[in-house]
Amino acid sequence: MFNHETVEKNIGLMIVLIVLGISFGGLVEIVPLFNIKQTTEPVEGLKPYTALQLEGRDVYIKEGCVGCHSQMIRPLRAEVERYGHYSVAGESVYDYPFLWGSKRTGPDLARVGQRYSDEWHRAHLYNPRDVVPASIMPAYPHLMDNVIDESITPKKMEALSVLGVPYTAEDIASASEDVRGKTEMDALIAYLQGLGTALTQKR
Ligand code: HEC
Repeated sequence: MFNHETVEKNIGLMIVLIVLGISFGGLVEIVPLFNIKQTTEPVEGLKPYTALQLEGRDVYIKEGCVGCHSQMIRPLRAEVERYGHYSVAGESVYDYPFLWGSKRTGPDLARVGQRYSDEWHRAHLYNPRDVVPASIMPAYPHLMDNVIDESITPKKMEALSVLGVPYTAEDIASASEDVRGKTEMDALIAYLQGLGTALTQKR
């Protein structure tokens, strides 16, 4: 007899049915998204990170910038007026993992690319108070001294191409040379200057 009472009095059976119910509901919501072009296709003009930008992204992750900065502009008037066009899924398709973040101690950085000069970023990262007197952002002077380890850059790119980032054999072959002698500061600035530009350059 399979009625409500049987299920309610039999906790094992209830657990199994709940798990089945939630799994089914989850699949119905998630699986169709895999096939929606808008969420899986890059926006027009989006290029994979260059070797130097990729290293810069790793510096961004390592230094925990994501703990204070989001990279996700919501489609709300206040955000769009402050930061620019809201973020779309197709801009993040080459990001593994994505760095949308959720904490905004500092401003959103999704479209910070090209907003300031490289010199501004260098000064700001070296000591934020030199350019923004009231800033509470930490200083990152050590980035000027740390040189990128060029031997692992091609491996990082190979790993990303397995995940579907369209790096060519030439991109990977020239990766070490592209980052040779560059500091973490150079890489981080190259990364920041590219943020959000694929979508905005079209407009
Ligand atoms: C403790 C929180 C905190 C951390 C960690 C942090 N920032 Fe900031 N950041 C801020 C605050 C607050 C501001 C606004 C004041 C200023 O411009 O310095 C800011 C401003 C910025 C700006 C200027 C944005 C704009 O639109 O004016 C950039 C670029 C930036 N941060 C990059 C970084 C990078 C890269 C890292 C990691 C190396 C980082 N931040 C780490 C708090 C933080």
